[in-house]
Amino acid sequence: MRLIYFLAALIILTSLLLTTTSAAGATLPGCPDSCGNLTIPYPFGTQSGCHLPGFLITCNTTYSPPRAFINIGNVRVNSIDLSAGSAVVELLVARDCYAPLQLSTNIPQTWADFTGLPYAFSNTRNKFTALGCSAIALNYRFGQTNSLSYTSGCIAFCSELSSVINGSCSGIGCCQTAIPRGLQRVNTILQSTSNMNLTWTFSPCSLAFLIDTDEYVFDVADLADFYKRTTVPVVLDWAVGNNQTCLSAATSPDYACGDNSYCSNSTNAAGYSCSCQTGFQGNPYLSNGCQDINECEDPETSPCTNICENTIGSYACSCPHGYSGDGKKSGKGCNKTTTKFPLVQTVAGGGLGFLFLLLGGFSLYWFLKKRRMLRLREKFFNQNGGSLLKQQLAAREGLAETARVFTAAELKRATDNYSDSRILGHGGNGTVFKGILPDTNRVVAIKKSNLVDGAAAQVEEFINEVVLLSQVIHKHVVRILGCCLETPVPLLVYEYVPNGTLHHHLHRRPGSLSWEARLRIAVETAAALAYLHSAIARPIFHRDVKATNILLDEQYMAKVADFGASRLIPMDRAYITTLVQGTLGYLDPEYFLSGQLTEKSDVYSFGVVLAEMLTGLTPLSGERPPEEKNLAIFFLLKMKDGKLQEILEPRVRTEGGRLQVEAVADLARRCMRLKGEERPSMREVVAEIERARRPPAAMLDPWEGRGEVEDEESENFEDSETRFLSSRMTRVLSEEGTTAYFAASATGDESLDQHIMLSLEMQR
Ligand SMILES: *[C@@H]1O[C@H](CO)[C@@H](O)[C@H](O)[C@H]1NC(C)=O
Ligand SMILES: *[C@@H]1O[C@H](CO)[C@@H](O)[C@H](O)[C@H]1NC(C)=O
Ligand SMILES: *[C@@H]1O[C@H](CO)[C@@H](O)[C@H](O)[C@H]1NC(C)=O
Ligand SMILES: *[C@@H]1O[C@H](CO)[C@@H](O)[C@H](O)[C@H]1NC(C)=O
Ligand SMILES: *[C@@H]1O[C@H](CO)[C@@H](O)[C@H](O)[C@H]1NC(C)=O
Ligand SMILES: *[C@@H]1O[C@H](CO)[C@@H](O)[C@H](O)[C@H]1NC(C)=O
Ligand SMILES: *[C@@H]1O[C@H](CO)[C@@H](O)[C@H](O)[C@H]1NC(C)=O
Repeated sequence: MRLIYFLAALIILTSLLLTTTSAAGATLPGCPDSCGNLTIPYPFGTQSGCHLPGFLITCNTTYSPPRAFINIGNVRVNSIDLSAGSAVVELLVARDCYAPLQLSTNIPQTWADFTGLPYAFSNTRNKFTALGCSAIALNYRFGQTNSLSYTSGCIAFCSELSSVINGSCSGIGCCQTAIPRGLQRVNTILQSTSNMNLTWTFSPCSLAFLIDTDEYVFDVADLADFYKRTTVPVVLDWAVGNNQTCLSAATSPDYACGDNSYCSNSTNAAGYSCSCQTGFQGNPYLSNGCQDINECEDPETSPCTNICENTIGSYACSCPHGYSGDGKKSGKGCNKTTTKFPLVQTVAGGGLGFLFLLLGGFSLYWFLKKRRMLRLREKFFNQNGGSLLKQQLAAREGLAETARVFTAAELKRATDNYSDSRILGHGGNGTVFKGILPDTNRVVAIKKSNLVDGAAAQVEEFINEVVLLSQVIHKHVVRILGCCLETPVPLLVYEYVPNGTLHHHLHRRPGSLSWEARLRIAVETAAALAYLHSAIARPIFHRDVKATNILLDEQYMAKVADFGASRLIPMDRAYITTLVQGTLGYLDPEYFLSGQLTEKSDVYSFGVVLAEMLTGLTPLSGERPPEEKNLAIFFLLKMKDGKLQEILEPRVRTEGGRLQVEAVADLARRCMRLKGEERPSMREVVAEIERARRPPAAMLDPWEGRGEVEDEESENFEDSETRFLSSRMTRVLSEEGTTAYFAASATGDESLDQHIMLSLEMQR
């Protein structure tokens, strides 16, 4: 019984592997991507379930490094080229040597057979070649009546070395001939017409082989020593689709080309091949393999002269304000718009004096105004801790990564004078604009914060934060590039993350994220938080972990953002007491009640984000019935009742394995434990999600097909805890009249309601 169950799980695993593909990798998820130093991209694979039919590669690990062979034969693979649809293999050389020398055993006939497999010898890159002074080399195949029919052949003769032309295979010492298209099997016969007793001194052997002409140019010296090579490189063309054309394959259920790719009929092997559309790159044979190319990433190779904006499958060039042109390096570029002064021609005589007077007055006014502005800027700069920051930066000079201090003018230009069209969003403590730095044309996000009220201690903290965060270099943390202090409120400059927030993808475009993507985003976010919690200098607690603070880049890679509320924690303390701050629905109840901030508060909020990704529900919603308003509580109650399945997001339910989803849900539950110390650390969270991402086959058993879900694990639940949570739900009315539920752990504490009111107020 167990065995059947296991086999069924295995079959499901295999079919899952065939449909869900990793975005970045070149293989199906869970499949080995190399053999020794040879990369093996899909449709090739070394294990069953990892390749398309016929594309098996056998990896023999008894060799060191391991060697790859076509199918289960003895033809060794040197390289595989996805875009050209070719592979280079090693094939034997036919050899007939002057007997008295006893150089090696003769091999007068060789053959290689790929019939039944998706390969054919490349007719454009291979040449059938013979070397020697008395060599006749023939290629033949068996005809329909089993009679021999020759497909090609050539003869190489010579009488003395001086007559052989270096580099030329025209019949003297060397000959070469083409092979027909679609050839899947070669049989080579090599014959020597003399016993070589006149020529053996400079050409001891006759040789015949098929060879990749990119790799081989005849050299006179080959006559003397080429016999030492037992194998030579030969190019095979391959095609998918088992002899189908693009036309017939497109409607077939096992059409092999993935998203954003196109199909071409193969010209040699039987079938078709896939390629990524322009603007995309990756493995076209994986369903999600062709990924957008970010043309703008590297200014060196960017197609634009000034402003470059990546779009899916393409890019757009534009010119900064005051410039015109198409902005393309291959086009007109950007030229300064010249403004003309038609005024000059019309002004004459007496009018001129008046004009000068007017101009003089105006420029004096302008000059004074400018000076006042400069003074103001200086004042703000100092008030915002500019000199402190300069000191801090100077102290760290030499470190590669430091925050840059931007000028107000630079950022004003970058954001088109804080134009409304550039607003990316309103954060908890500021407005975020999209900006393009005038000097480098780098696209950045600029946050106009409203947190500073001039208190000296806070200024110092703010500066420390900028300096420290500028050294937080983690793939999944939004980089801070610098700040500007010349304005009344400090401006922060961050790297630009183009694909919006996790919140947006979960709630505005429900179903847009696959289960696989959700797990990946979860683990990336967790890794970023774990990194912050164990940051080298001083741990950093984020304090405001929520779906709107998790940004997604072009590849849908997660980047944790918004450290407006985060705190640097002194080394000697595990927690700090602060004004309670955070977002309702994500806020850690323990922290909320005690005011003591620990790293476990971030763990709690992360647990809520996990629950949000599993269910697709918002953490707080006035539209849900009262007992379902708070997702954290609703989620825990459903889990306790063994009814998790009811609230799972449809894609999670269909794509995730039952035990896999349950493992993640249970992790979310533990993250949301009431007592901070009982929650796992962020490191443990990372490890657990990673484990769930690469589950044993049985974990991928889907929800459907196992009947009523039995809740074996309910024993492990802290029954008391969930019951406690639901019984202690406290009803709080905010001023807008929406109702929020919150778990409270203090008993009969009158001040609790006030606390909650306080938090609601802070929220706004
Ligand atoms: C793989 O290793 C072999 C020998 O170790 C070397 O000749 C070959 O060039 C390597 N191939 C690649 C793609 O690195
Ligand atoms: C690997 O190569 C060794 C040596 O040629 C051979 O004996 C063995 O059978 C091969 N193993 C596989 C799995 O092909
Ligand atoms: C070469 O071999 C041929 C035939 O085997 C023989 O007739 C001839 O004498 C030989 N020549 C030399 C120089 O040994
Ligand atoms: C033949 O030509 C190649 C390059 O053209 C050169 O490297 C090689 O030394 C030449 N061989 C002889 C025997 O002259
Ligand atoms: C491929 O299809 C063509 C035309 O349908 C047919 O002539 C040919 O024999 C087929 N080749 C193989 C290998 O099945
Ligand atoms: C592939 O070949 C089929 C049949 O010859 C033809 O109808 C189709 O247009 C071709 N497709 C491409 C993309 O060349
Ligand atoms: C920009 O200036 C260059 C050289 O000054 C000129 O060749 C080009 O045509 C100009 N482009 C536009 C759009 O005016």
